[in-house]
Amino acid sequence: MKFNTIAVVGTGQMGAGIAQACATAGARVIAIDPDHAQRERAKAGIGRSLAKLAEKGLVKDPAGIEARIKFAEHPDDAEPADLVIEAIVEDLAVKRALWEDLDVVCRPDTVFASNTSSLSIAAQAEVTDRADRFLGLHFFNPVPMMALVEVVNTPALDPMILEQGVALVRAMGKTPVLAQDTPGFVVNRLLVPYLLDAARAAEAKVASTADLDAGMKLGAGHPMGPLMLLDFVGIDTVVRIADIFHRAFDEERHRAPAILTAMVARGELGKKSGKGFYDWSGTEPVARSVQ
Ligand code: 3HC
Repeated sequence: MKFNTIAVVGTGQMGAGIAQACATAGARVIAIDPDHAQRERAKAGIGRSLAKLAEKGLVKDPAGIEARIKFAEHPDDAEPADLVIEAIVEDLAVKRALWEDLDVVCRPDTVFASNTSSLSIAAQAEVTDRADRFLGLHFFNPVPMMALVEVVNTPALDPMILEQGVALVRAMGKTPVLAQDTPGFVVNRLLVPYLLDAARAAEAKVASTADLDAGMKLGAGHPMGPLMLLDFVGIDTVVRIADIFHRAFDEERHRAPAILTAMVARGELGKKSGKGFYDWSGTEPVARSVQ
Protein backbone atom coordinates (compact mmCIF):
# COMPACT_ATOMS: atom_id res chain seq x y z
CA MET A 1 0.00 0.00 0.00
CA LYS A 2 1.27 3.47 -0.93
CA PHE A 3 -0.32 5.27 2.00
CA ASN A 4 1.70 4.49 5.14
CA THR A 5 0.40 7.44 7.14
CA ILE A 6 -3.21 8.58 6.75
CA ALA A 7 -4.75 11.62 8.41
CA VAL A 8 -8.52 11.53 8.91
CA VAL A 9 -10.03 14.93 9.65
CA GLY A 10 -13.28 14.76 11.62
CA THR A 11 -13.94 11.97 14.12
CA GLY A 12 -17.74 11.79 14.01
CA GLN A 13 -19.37 8.45 13.20
CA MET A 14 -17.93 8.41 9.65
CA GLY A 15 -14.46 9.74 10.52
CA ALA A 16 -14.04 7.30 13.41
CA GLY A 17 -15.04 4.40 11.19
CA ILE A 18 -12.69 5.53 8.42
CA ALA A 19 -9.80 5.87 10.90
CA GLN A 20 -10.53 2.31 12.08
CA ALA A 21 -10.66 0.97 8.51
CA CYS A 22 -7.35 2.66 7.59
CA ALA A 23 -5.60 1.30 10.70
CA THR A 24 -7.05 -2.15 10.00
CA ALA A 25 -5.46 -1.95 6.53
CA GLY A 26 -2.08 -1.43 8.25
CA ALA A 27 -1.66 2.36 8.01
CA ARG A 28 -0.58 4.67 10.81
CA VAL A 29 -3.53 6.99 11.38
CA ILE A 30 -3.72 10.54 12.67
CA ALA A 31 -7.36 11.14 13.66
CA ILE A 32 -7.93 14.88 13.90
CA ASP A 33 -10.79 16.70 15.61
CA PRO A 34 -10.79 20.01 17.49
CA ASP A 35 -13.55 18.72 19.81
CA HIS A 36 -12.09 16.85 22.79
CA ALA A 37 -15.37 15.13 23.69
CA GLN A 38 -15.80 13.98 20.08
CA ARG A 39 -12.28 12.51 20.07
CA GLU A 40 -13.02 10.63 23.30
CA ARG A 41 -16.29 9.25 21.85
CA ALA A 42 -14.44 8.15 18.71
CA LYS A 43 -11.70 6.44 20.74
CA ALA A 44 -14.26 4.54 22.83
CA GLY A 45 -16.36 3.60 19.78
CA ILE A 46 -13.34 2.26 17.87
CA GLY A 47 -12.33 0.20 20.93
CA ARG A 48 -15.82 -1.32 21.22
CA SER A 49 -16.07 -2.02 17.49
CA LEU A 50 -12.65 -3.70 17.30
CA ALA A 51 -13.39 -5.81 20.38
CA LYS A 52 -16.63 -7.00 18.75
CA LEU A 53 -14.95 -7.78 15.42
CA ALA A 54 -12.07 -9.59 17.17
CA GLU A 55 -14.55 -11.68 19.18
CA LYS A 56 -15.93 -12.93 15.84
CA GLY A 57 -12.45 -13.49 14.41
CA LEU A 58 -12.99 -10.75 11.81
CA VAL A 59 -9.90 -8.75 12.86
CA LYS A 60 -6.62 -9.93 14.27
CA ASP A 61 -4.65 -7.91 16.83
CA PRO A 62 -7.26 -5.28 17.78
CA ALA A 63 -4.80 -3.75 20.28
CA GLY A 64 -2.22 -3.31 17.49
CA ILE A 65 -4.84 -1.66 15.26
CA GLU A 66 -5.90 0.70 18.06
CA ALA A 67 -2.27 1.55 18.79
CA ARG A 68 -1.78 2.67 15.18
CA ILE A 69 -4.42 5.42 15.66
CA LYS A 70 -3.12 8.63 17.25
CA PHE A 71 -5.60 11.37 18.04
CA ALA A 72 -4.77 15.01 17.40
CA GLU A 73 -6.47 18.37 17.64
CA HIS A 74 -5.42 20.57 14.77
CA PRO A 75 -5.35 20.17 10.94
CA ASP A 76 -1.62 21.11 11.10
CA ASP A 77 -1.12 17.66 12.66
CA ALA A 78 -1.82 16.19 9.19
CA GLU A 79 1.62 17.34 8.05
CA PRO A 80 3.28 13.85 7.95
CA ALA A 81 0.38 12.24 6.07
CA ASP A 82 0.69 10.51 2.68
CA LEU A 83 -3.10 10.70 2.36
CA VAL A 84 -5.63 12.99 4.04
CA ILE A 85 -9.30 11.95 4.15
CA GLU A 86 -11.80 14.54 5.32
CA ALA A 87 -15.03 13.52 7.04
CA ILE A 88 -16.23 16.88 8.35
CA VAL A 89 -19.57 18.64 7.98
CA GLU A 90 -21.31 18.45 4.58
CA ASP A 91 -20.77 22.13 3.77
CA LEU A 92 -18.77 23.11 0.68
CA ALA A 93 -17.44 26.40 2.12
CA VAL A 94 -16.21 24.68 5.29
CA LYS A 95 -14.57 21.85 3.33
CA ARG A 96 -12.90 24.29 0.91
CA ALA A 97 -11.49 26.32 3.82
CA LEU A 98 -10.04 23.11 5.33
CA TRP A 99 -8.44 22.06 2.02
CA GLU A 100 -6.92 25.52 1.52
CA ASP A 101 -5.19 25.17 4.92
CA LEU A 102 -4.14 21.55 4.33
CA ASP A 103 -2.73 22.41 0.90
CA VAL A 104 -0.20 24.63 2.67
CA VAL A 105 0.46 22.26 5.59
CA CYS A 106 0.94 19.01 3.63
CA ARG A 107 3.71 17.91 1.26
CA PRO A 108 3.00 18.51 -2.46
CA ASP A 109 2.85 14.74 -3.07
CA THR A 110 0.24 14.09 -0.33
CA VAL A 111 -3.04 12.82 -1.79
CA PHE A 112 -6.33 14.43 -0.67
CA ALA A 113 -9.64 12.56 -0.49
CA SER A 114 -13.11 13.73 0.49
CA ASN A 115 -15.70 11.46 2.08
CA THR A 116 -18.44 13.80 0.90
CA SER A 117 -21.75 12.10 0.17
CA SER A 118 -23.13 14.68 -2.23
CA LEU A 119 -20.79 17.63 -2.84
CA SER A 120 -18.58 18.00 -5.90
CA ILE A 121 -15.04 16.66 -5.60
CA ALA A 122 -13.83 19.04 -8.34
CA ALA A 123 -15.29 22.04 -6.46
CA GLN A 124 -13.16 21.05 -3.45
CA ALA A 125 -10.05 20.23 -5.48
CA GLU A 126 -10.07 23.60 -7.26
CA VAL A 127 -9.02 25.49 -4.11
CA THR A 128 -5.82 23.39 -3.95
CA ASP A 129 -2.78 23.07 -6.21
CA ARG A 130 -3.28 19.30 -6.45
CA ALA A 131 -6.45 18.60 -8.45
CA ASP A 132 -4.51 15.71 -10.06
CA ARG A 133 -4.07 14.15 -6.58
CA PHE A 134 -7.59 14.79 -5.25
CA LEU A 135 -10.28 12.09 -5.33
CA GLY A 136 -13.45 11.01 -3.56
CA LEU A 137 -13.46 8.07 -1.13
CA HIS A 138 -17.05 7.72 0.01
CA PHE A 139 -17.64 5.27 2.87
CA PHE A 140 -20.92 3.91 4.23
CA ASN A 141 -22.27 3.85 7.74
CA PRO A 142 -21.48 1.87 9.88
CA VAL A 143 -18.05 1.84 8.23
CA PRO A 144 -16.69 -1.29 9.96
CA MET A 145 -19.68 -3.32 8.72
CA MET A 146 -20.24 -1.91 5.24
CA ALA A 147 -18.38 -3.56 2.37
CA LEU A 148 -18.53 -0.69 -0.15
CA VAL A 149 -16.45 2.41 -0.83
CA GLU A 150 -17.25 4.64 -3.82
CA VAL A 151 -14.00 5.82 -5.43
CA VAL A 152 -14.80 9.06 -7.21
CA ASN A 153 -12.97 10.15 -10.34
CA THR A 154 -12.67 13.68 -11.75
CA PRO A 155 -11.43 14.89 -15.15
CA ALA A 156 -8.27 16.31 -13.51
CA LEU A 157 -7.37 13.20 -11.47
CA ASP A 158 -4.16 11.30 -12.28
CA PRO A 159 -5.27 7.71 -13.15
CA MET A 160 -2.42 6.38 -11.00
CA ILE A 161 -3.93 8.08 -7.92
CA LEU A 162 -7.32 6.56 -8.75
CA GLU A 163 -5.63 3.15 -8.81
CA GLN A 164 -3.97 3.84 -5.46
CA GLY A 165 -7.39 4.73 -4.02
CA VAL A 166 -8.81 1.44 -5.33
CA ALA A 167 -5.86 -0.48 -3.83
CA LEU A 168 -6.40 1.17 -0.44
CA VAL A 169 -10.08 0.19 -0.43
CA ARG A 170 -9.12 -3.42 -1.25
CA ALA A 171 -6.49 -3.38 1.54
CA MET A 172 -9.32 -2.45 3.92
CA GLY A 173 -11.12 -5.62 2.85
CA LYS A 174 -13.80 -3.56 1.12
CA THR A 175 -15.10 -3.44 -2.46
CA PRO A 176 -14.52 -0.33 -4.57
CA VAL A 177 -17.09 1.00 -7.02
CA LEU A 178 -15.90 3.64 -9.50
CA ALA A 179 -18.17 6.67 -9.73
CA GLN A 180 -18.08 9.93 -11.63
CA ASP A 181 -18.19 13.26 -9.81
CA THR A 182 -21.97 13.81 -9.90
CA PRO A 183 -24.21 14.65 -6.89
CA GLY A 184 -24.71 11.58 -4.67
CA PHE A 185 -22.46 9.41 -6.86
CA VAL A 186 -24.17 5.99 -7.20
CA VAL A 187 -25.64 4.97 -3.87
CA ASN A 188 -26.95 8.22 -2.39
CA ARG A 189 -28.43 9.27 -5.74
CA LEU A 190 -30.69 6.20 -5.48
CA LEU A 191 -30.95 5.83 -1.70
CA VAL A 192 -31.72 9.39 -0.57
CA PRO A 193 -34.95 9.84 -2.63
CA TYR A 194 -36.14 6.54 -1.09
CA LEU A 195 -35.38 7.80 2.44
CA LEU A 196 -37.19 11.09 1.72
CA ASP A 197 -40.22 9.13 0.43
CA ALA A 198 -40.19 7.03 3.60
CA ALA A 199 -40.20 10.21 5.72
CA ARG A 200 -43.12 11.55 3.64
CA ALA A 201 -44.96 8.24 4.17
CA ALA A 202 -44.41 8.58 7.94
CA GLU A 203 -45.62 12.20 7.76
CA ALA A 204 -48.77 11.05 5.92
CA LYS A 205 -49.29 8.36 8.61
CA VAL A 206 -49.31 5.59 6.02
CA ALA A 207 -48.31 3.24 8.84
CA SER A 208 -46.58 3.36 12.22
CA THR A 209 -42.79 3.76 12.43
CA ALA A 210 -42.37 0.07 13.32
CA ASP A 211 -44.73 -1.13 10.56
CA LEU A 212 -43.19 1.08 7.88
CA ASP A 213 -39.78 -0.34 8.70
CA ALA A 214 -41.04 -3.92 9.02
CA GLY A 215 -42.70 -3.50 5.61
CA MET A 216 -39.45 -2.74 3.83
CA LYS A 217 -37.38 -5.18 5.91
CA LEU A 218 -39.63 -8.16 5.44
CA GLY A 219 -41.36 -7.21 2.18
CA ALA A 220 -38.31 -5.98 0.26
CA GLY A 221 -35.54 -7.87 2.05
CA HIS A 222 -33.68 -4.77 3.28
CA PRO A 223 -31.34 -5.23 6.28
CA MET A 224 -33.10 -2.37 8.09
CA GLY A 225 -36.16 -0.25 7.46
CA PRO A 226 -35.84 3.27 5.99
CA LEU A 227 -36.82 5.15 9.17
CA MET A 228 -34.20 3.31 11.22
CA LEU A 229 -31.72 3.94 8.41
CA LEU A 230 -32.57 7.67 8.58
CA ASP A 231 -31.70 7.52 12.29
CA PHE A 232 -28.47 5.65 11.50
CA VAL A 233 -27.29 8.09 8.83
CA GLY A 234 -28.43 11.15 10.85
CA ILE A 235 -31.55 13.21 10.11
CA ASP A 236 -29.43 16.39 9.77
CA THR A 237 -27.11 14.69 7.28
CA VAL A 238 -30.03 13.50 5.13
CA VAL A 239 -31.59 17.00 5.18
CA ARG A 240 -28.25 18.50 4.08
CA ILE A 241 -27.96 15.97 1.23
CA ALA A 242 -31.58 16.65 0.21
CA ASP A 243 -30.85 20.41 0.08
CA ILE A 244 -27.75 19.80 -2.06
CA PHE A 245 -29.73 17.51 -4.43
CA HIS A 246 -32.59 20.02 -4.60
CA ARG A 247 -30.17 22.78 -5.62
CA ALA A 248 -28.36 20.51 -8.09
CA PHE A 249 -31.32 18.79 -9.79
CA ASP A 250 -34.14 21.29 -9.10
CA GLU A 251 -36.67 18.47 -8.58
CA GLU A 252 -39.48 18.58 -6.03
CA ARG A 253 -38.83 14.98 -4.92
CA HIS A 254 -35.51 16.10 -3.42
CA ARG A 255 -37.05 18.78 -1.18
CA ALA A 256 -36.53 17.82 2.49
CA PRO A 257 -39.96 16.95 3.98
CA ALA A 258 -41.20 19.14 6.85
CA ILE A 259 -41.15 16.19 9.26
CA LEU A 260 -37.35 15.96 8.87
CA THR A 261 -36.61 19.70 9.11
CA ALA A 262 -38.81 19.85 12.26
CA MET A 263 -36.85 16.95 13.78
CA VAL A 264 -33.57 18.73 13.09
CA ALA A 265 -34.94 21.92 14.70
CA ARG A 266 -35.85 19.86 17.80
CA GLY A 267 -32.40 18.27 17.92
CA GLU A 268 -33.82 14.84 17.06
CA LEU A 269 -30.97 13.79 14.80
CA GLY A 270 -31.31 10.01 15.12
CA LYS A 271 -29.00 7.55 16.81
CA LYS A 272 -26.21 10.04 17.48
CA SER A 273 -28.48 12.37 19.50
CA GLY A 274 -30.35 9.52 21.22
CA LYS A 275 -33.67 10.31 19.53
CA GLY A 276 -35.09 10.23 16.01
CA PHE A 277 -37.76 7.92 14.61
CA TYR A 278 -36.56 5.66 17.43
CA ASP A 279 -35.59 6.29 21.03
CA TRP A 280 -32.00 5.07 21.32
CA SER A 281 -31.52 5.70 25.05
CA GLY A 282 -32.08 2.06 26.11
CA THR A 283 -30.36 -1.16 25.09
CA GLU A 284 -32.78 -1.67 22.17
CA PRO A 285 -34.19 1.09 19.91
CA VAL A 286 -37.88 1.81 20.59
CA ALA A 287 -40.07 3.09 17.73
CA ARG A 288 -41.58 6.56 18.28
CA SER A 289 -44.52 8.28 16.66
CA VAL A 290 -43.02 11.43 15.14
CA GLN A 291 -45.18 14.40 14.06
N1 3HC B 1 -18.55 -2.47 14.58
C1 3HC B 1 -18.53 -3.77 14.90
N2 3HC B 1 -19.63 -4.54 14.96
C2 3HC B 1 -20.82 -3.94 14.66
C3 3HC B 1 -20.91 -2.58 14.30
C4 3HC B 1 -19.71 -1.83 14.27
N3 3HC B 1 -19.70 -0.53 13.95
N4 3HC B 1 -22.22 -2.28 14.04
C5 3HC B 1 -22.92 -3.41 14.25
N5 3HC B 1 -22.08 -4.41 14.61
C6 3HC B 1 -22.41 -5.79 14.95
C7 3HC B 1 -23.50 -5.86 15.99
O1 3HC B 1 -22.99 -5.64 17.28
C8 3HC B 1 -24.03 -7.25 15.81
O2 3HC B 1 -23.20 -8.16 16.50
P1 3HC B 1 -23.84 -9.48 17.17
O3 3HC B 1 -24.35 -10.27 16.02
O4 3HC B 1 -22.66 -10.10 17.84
O5 3HC B 1 -24.89 -9.00 18.11
C9 3HC B 1 -23.83 -7.50 14.30
O6 3HC B 1 -22.95 -6.45 13.83
C10 3HC B 1 -25.10 -7.43 13.55
O7 3HC B 1 -25.75 -6.22 13.89
P2 3HC B 1 -27.25 -6.15 14.30
O8 3HC B 1 -27.71 -7.44 14.88
O9 3HC B 1 -27.44 -4.90 15.11
O10 3HC B 1 -28.06 -5.87 13.00
P3 3HC B 1 -27.88 -6.27 11.49
O11 3HC B 1 -27.65 -7.71 11.30
O12 3HC B 1 -29.05 -5.62 10.86
O13 3HC B 1 -26.55 -5.55 10.96
C11 3HC B 1 -26.08 -3.48 9.85
C12 3HC B 1 -26.32 -4.20 11.18
C13 3HC B 1 -24.81 -3.98 9.20
C14 3HC B 1 -25.95 -2.01 10.22
C15 3HC B 1 -27.30 -3.75 8.87
O14 3HC B 1 -28.49 -3.47 9.52
C16 3HC B 1 -27.24 -2.91 7.62
O15 3HC B 1 -26.54 -3.24 6.68
N6 3HC B 1 -28.03 -1.82 7.58
C17 3HC B 1 -28.07 -0.92 6.44
C18 3HC B 1 -26.97 0.09 6.57
C19 3HC B 1 -26.90 0.99 5.38
O16 3HC B 1 -27.67 0.94 4.45
N7 3HC B 1 -25.90 1.88 5.41
C20 3HC B 1 -25.69 2.85 4.36
C21 3HC B 1 -26.23 4.16 4.77
S1 3HC B 1 -25.99 5.39 3.55
C22 3HC B 1 -24.49 6.03 3.93
O17 3HC B 1 -23.86 5.69 4.90
C23 3HC B 1 -23.96 7.03 3.00
C24 3HC B 1 -23.84 8.38 3.65
O18 3HC B 1 -23.16 9.23 2.75
C25 3HC B 1 -25.16 9.00 3.99
